[in-house]
Amino acid sequence: MSTLITNIGELVTNQPDEQAGGAGFAAVADAAMVIDDARVAWTGPASRAPAADQAVDAAGRAVLPGFVDSHAHLVFAGERSAEFAARMAGQPYRAGGIRSTVAATRAAADDQLRANVGRLAAEMLAQGTTTFECKSGYGLTVGDEARAVAIAAEFTREVTYLGAHVVPPEFEADPAGYVELVCGPMLDACAPAARWVDVFCERGAFGRDEAAAVLAAGTAAGLQPRVHANQLGPGPGVQLAVRAGAASADHCTYLDDADVDALASSSTVATLLPGVEFSTRQPYPDARRLLDAGAVVALATDCNPGSCFTSSMPLCIALAVREMRMTTQEAVWAATAGGARALRRADVGHLGVGASADFIILNAPSHTYLAYRPGVPLVGAAWRAGALARN
Ligand code: NIG
Ligand code: FE
Repeated sequence: MSTLITNIGELVTNQPDEQAGGAGFAAVADAAMVIDDARVAWTGPASRAPAADQAVDAAGRAVLPGFVDSHAHLVFAGERSAEFAARMAGQPYRAGGIRSTVAATRAAADDQLRANVGRLAAEMLAQGTTTFECKSGYGLTVGDEARAVAIAAEFTREVTYLGAHVVPPEFEADPAGYVELVCGPMLDACAPAARWVDVFCERGAFGRDEAAAVLAAGTAAGLQPRVHANQLGPGPGVQLAVRAGAASADHCTYLDDADVDALASSSTVATLLPGVEFSTRQPYPDARRLLDAGAVVALATDCNPGSCFTSSMPLCIALAVREMRMTTQEAVWAATAGGARALRRADVGHLGVGASADFIILNAPSHTYLAYRPGVPLVGAAWRAGALARN
């Protein structure tokens, strides 16, 4: 069954002219798109659109690839609004807050965790996210981490094992013992349901050598690395990520020149999470410096109950444009194709022929409205694999 989406005011394909070369934002005005079953079959000017079995009139609105949120922590119980309020009253963000969510998550029933992930996934879809990554990291025992990756895998194929989130209280006196657990029995229990291994490389979490050990063990177990790096201060995380061949170094808030150079000359994506800086009152990462140096930049939410409890990619785009001086095109590319790069996915994040037909229709004529009308729910419909997923 083929479907013609016609009368599209602006179709963001992220498929620049082959002659122009390279990756980047690209859009067609007054466009149409044909999808055949689950895939994009044709895009171009509406005047040249081929016939299809059925037609959908986009009424001049913009069509974009669905957002790819490449960084989220959705398997948790409880909430930390009091911690947020205290921050807004002047307290700093501390990685140690993670432990209160660990306690709530350990105490929760499976169905409670499953319902929470389902609710947040539905929130994401309503805001245009058609692919998301989901981490463990609030269980921190073999059983609780295995349960977290299993529940995450019910909702997404982009599951990340983050046993190395923080050292749990029962290992306070023996952090090396905890790293051994993360690299041994916990990894064995989690690897079958996960695609990625992540580590929070930061003062107060895991240092360079511990983080390197976690990534090496995860890689040996068949997982691909990604790293929470340079979030709360300068540190070795970015260099470690690049050296490990990580798909992504996430946060990148405190970078020196060598970090920027390393990212620019590698395939490791710099994933920026501006909702975190919004919610912790830290300085925003320097997106311009990374882009101007030639690094690949992705935007993601980091949705979690502590440092940033938003599921909204449109909010992240608006912050990236207003606060980080990304152009509207750069921000939309980073939230779609950039996220796909950070997850090493060639089938999403763009609407080239053959891509998965994952797209959104905005109640607006162009992608610019995502930043121009911040906070307004503009996603009119979301399609996933060629089917209407939300109207
Ligand atoms: O990405 N940095 C580590 N993990 C999360 C924070 C989680 C929390 O505070 O609960 C983050 O910001
Ligand atoms: Fe995170």
